[in-house]
Amino acid sequence: MNALETRIRQIIVASGPLTVGQYMAMCLGDPEHGYYMKRPPFGAEGDFTTAPEVSQIFGELIGLWAADYWQRMGAPDPVILAEFGPGRGTLMQDALRAARALPAFRQALQPWLIETSPRLRTIQQRNLDGEKVRWGESLADLPSGPMIAIANEFFDALPVRQFIRQADGWHERLVGLQGERLSFMTSPRPDENIPDLLAEGQLSAGEGEIAEICPDGQRIAAEIAARLQRQDGALLFFDYGPARSAPGDSLQALRRHRFHDPLADPGEADITAHVDFQRLLESARLKGARTAGPLAQGEFLNRLGLQQRTRALAGQNPARAREIMSGAKRLSAPAEMGTLFKAAAVFRRDGPVPAGFTEAECQP
Ligand SMILES: C[S@@+](CC[C@H](N)C(=O)[O-])C[C@H]1O[C@@H](n2cnc3c(N)ncnc32)[C@H](O)[C@@H]1O
Repeated sequence: MNALETRIRQIIVASGPLTVGQYMAMCLGDPEHGYYMKRPPFGAEGDFTTAPEVSQIFGELIGLWAADYWQRMGAPDPVILAEFGPGRGTLMQDALRAARALPAFRQALQPWLIETSPRLRTIQQRNLDGEKVRWGESLADLPSGPMIAIANEFFDALPVRQFIRQADGWHERLVGLQGERLSFMTSPRPDENIPDLLAEGQLSAGEGEIAEICPDGQRIAAEIAARLQRQDGALLFFDYGPARSAPGDSLQALRRHRFHDPLADPGEADITAHVDFQRLLESARLKGARTAGPLAQGEFLNRLGLQQRTRALAGQNPARAREIMSGAKRLSAPAEMGTLFKAAAVFRRDGPVPAGFTEAECQP
């Protein structure tokens, strides 16, 4: 049994079962033993591979997307380019390199990384050596002013609460002890406040079905939207999950690229949940901002020029051409990351529609 499991058991024995959200928060963010606090989880050696680690073109297209939005919002100087949950810093590295194509943008932008893991910050510092990057723990740490924000697989790493529909109403799903083992259980009494927390599309869940909410994700999307509405700018984010709110248990753990029991070896495996795009975007619109998408990642990247850039890069690097082409396919093919992953944006109500989306794909 690892040290985090010992601590989780002690808390359960002293104060009763944890909510799934409390459990997930400890597994990922415990300052000493949390998953993101200990070791770099990315790449072939780690537990999962993200889009910027698959191909440099992902970050390059996002850098060009940001440069285009900056120009169309009136080229404010300075402008913050903030990345939420930057992992190894690869996306920012590729975006900054691509931004050099528009020297005035490169000159005006102030890169910021919003990261809670000191371990990952050290890796980001190393990978972005020579760039004038600053770090914060949350949106509140950023200076005021126009901002272009980006995030890839950030919202799926935030804790979710889970609820189970039973004959007598909704119950919170908990993590407790069954004998010696950590085990999922259900709060003994129904909670009449739960339906108010759920999205319309989740209320039709049948008996025994699970519905999830991500309170931190909704709060962060709302805070970013409120800021963009006041101070101008846009957020572009990519994640995986359904376009519309629906019931379903999407909690999953990955270790060494394989599914893992989320209750086994806490802090040793990555735990994520699907992002409810509809819910996040609604939280943003409630603050007055407009939203675009979600749109399948493959379609979005193709609209930004993925195929053209792939051919150009492969032509310049014949020895790496196969790898470059297979990376682009992995990002965009429907059977790979192209459909499950989606792109969405939040932007100021009277701002320009971000590249890659059409007016018809925006709300309201
Ligand atoms: C799945 S990784 C995504 C990494 C990266 N964006 C990529 O595509 O490779 C999640 C990232 O979010 C960070 N993170 C998790 N919770 C956070 C929070 N509440 N605030 C800021 N960063 C957070 C993690 O430390 C990690 O860098």
